[in-house]
Amino acid sequence: MKTSSPSGAHGADVPRHIAIIMDGNGRWAKRRLMPRVAGHRKGVEALRGVIRACAERGVSHLTVFAFSSENWRRPQEEVTLLMELFMRALENEVAKLHENGIRFRVIGDLSGFSERIQTLIHDAQSLTRNNTRLTFTVAANYGGRWDVAQAVKKLVAAGATAEEIDEDALSRHLSMAGEPEPDLFIRTGGEQRISNFLLWQLAYTELYFTDALWPDFDAKQLDAAIASYRARERRFGRTSEQVQTVS
Ligand code: IPE
Ligand code: IPE
Ligand code: MG
Repeated sequence: MKTSSPSGAHGADVPRHIAIIMDGNGRWAKRRLMPRVAGHRKGVEALRGVIRACAERGVSHLTVFAFSSENWRRPQEEVTLLMELFMRALENEVAKLHENGIRFRVIGDLSGFSERIQTLIHDAQSLTRNNTRLTFTVAANYGGRWDVAQAVKKLVAAGATAEEIDEDALSRHLSMAGEPEPDLFIRTGGEQRISNFLLWQLAYTELYFTDALWPDFDAKQLDAAIASYRARERRFGRTSEQVQTVS
């Protein structure tokens, strides 16, 4: 028996919160002799399917890494195309998310984006704020180190003393404050690293790496990741014997 208490329509073993690094779009396109942006476009389609699958399985939180604070280092042309794609997705997908009872959020340093994108994000967040079926969070211009640093800055700006800056206070000022920590982390694309995603929140998350490239990741592959998660024993520092006697 796990010590976490994930909830879900399909039983207690469905992870409550899944966090995904959607990697491998560029390689997917390269294999097909297509431009990298074709992989990113296909990646948006894959994401649509994964959002639906998570909602159907009773996952209550899905957080995806769409653009890291380090991704600005990519060629200017790719960055521009990614921004356009992000804008189109905000324009075209938010109404559908809302219809499906999905709460939409963006975490990251939004000041890095154009005014237009910032307005679209703001409007999408207000429109969907009371939806409860699934909280879908996109990490954009996000970095785990940035998140910890901005939380400390907020505390200091509010006049917190060194004594007051403890783990609880810090986590209350992180971008994901109030949301459950991820139960399951998935990275597609074969790399086995965190790439500055949710550093603080992943402390006790079960990690799952797959060689599948993001545009190929579908509900079946999501189920394989969930099955792997269900087979694990989460001990949170305790012994296996202790965990098994917890009801
Ligand atoms: C992930 O795919 C999407 C973003 C980082 C925006 P990549 O573009 O990193 O794809 P690969 O790793 O080059 O295949
Ligand atoms: C991580 O992918 C960020 C996103 C998927 C948005 P990268 O492809 O940028 O990561 P690295 O550079 O291989 O670590
Ligand atoms: Mg990559």
